Amino acid sequence: MTVQREGAKVSIVGAGAVGSSLAYAALMAGVARRVVLQDVNEAKVKAEALDLAHGSQFFPEASILGSADVAATEHSDVVVITAGAKQKPGQTRLDLAESTVRLMTHVIPPLVERSPDAIFLLVTNPVDVTTQVALDISGLPQERVIGSGTVLDSSRLRQLLAEECDVAVSNVHAYVCGEHGDTEIPLWTSSSIGGVPLLDWERSTGRLGAAKRDEIAHRVVNAAYEVIAGKGATNYAIGLAGTRILQAILRDEHAVLPVSRRLDGWYGLSGMCMSVPTVVSAAGAGRQLELPLSDDELAALRASAATIRDTAERLER
Ligand code: 2OP
Repeated sequence: MTVQREGAKVSIVGAGAVGSSLAYAALMAGVARRVVLQDVNEAKVKAEALDLAHGSQFFPEASILGSADVAATEHSDVVVITAGAKQKPGQTRLDLAESTVRLMTHVIPPLVERSPDAIFLLVTNPVDVTTQVALDISGLPQERVIGSGTVLDSSRLRQLLAEECDVAVSNVHAYVCGEHGDTEIPLWTSSSIGGVPLLDWERSTGRLGAAKRDEIAHRVVNAAYEVIAGKGATNYAIGLAGTRILQAILRDEHAVLPVSRRLDGWYGLSGMCMSVPTVVSAAGAGRQLELPLSDDELAALRASAATIRDTAERLER
């Protein structure tokens, strides 16, 4: 049985397209009794909260407050950070690193001061670097500083595989791991369709195959660029992915999700935040699963980790 934390309070910092969509998805899913949307732009944050509040009749009982005052976030169970610069067409997520780090230096301390027991969920890109910076600045235990990581990318992968294999998305198990960005990797060796290992599924059905898998991997890695080219930002799917993580925390699910958190010896990798399958519960991001990997997958994950580490080190200089 899932138990909802009574009267849970979630604060979402940043009322842009991502923060507002996340608030919408979180309210629809009924993950918290109190949702606070906080942004320095008072007119915008109040209008977003008002628009959401007008739909109160149609989502599970919850209050929504919009505020420019960081004090409104006090005693949150989870603080979600979505504030930050938008990726422009042609920019990579890593191009946002410098401005994001500067922003986090201002944003994180007053939030931690007001909610010292909260779990911090970072969504702002480049999310692995943002998570690392938030961990360093906040001084919180590493389980309580989580990046949304490749939960969204894994959903994109599962959607494409489900379409290709003609099965329900819920019957596809597959992870994209590594950086939430250009070096991320779909882990085919551990993927399965209805319990059948993906590579066996290929052999028995004649579907997929290496070329099709490469094409799917390319589409997943470039998915955000495709959406940004058309409408300037991605917001709905990241709102849903963030909400999925909130559910895992607030319902103490112990769900396995590829969130970003500090690695501490996972396949010999340490010292950077990166997504690998992780048990997410009321305690935050816990055990990281060592799933079967091919040599190529492990090499690609090591390269992805090196990219994140190099970016973080470059910013420290
Ligand atoms: C996404 O993958 C841009 O990181 C955002 O949709």
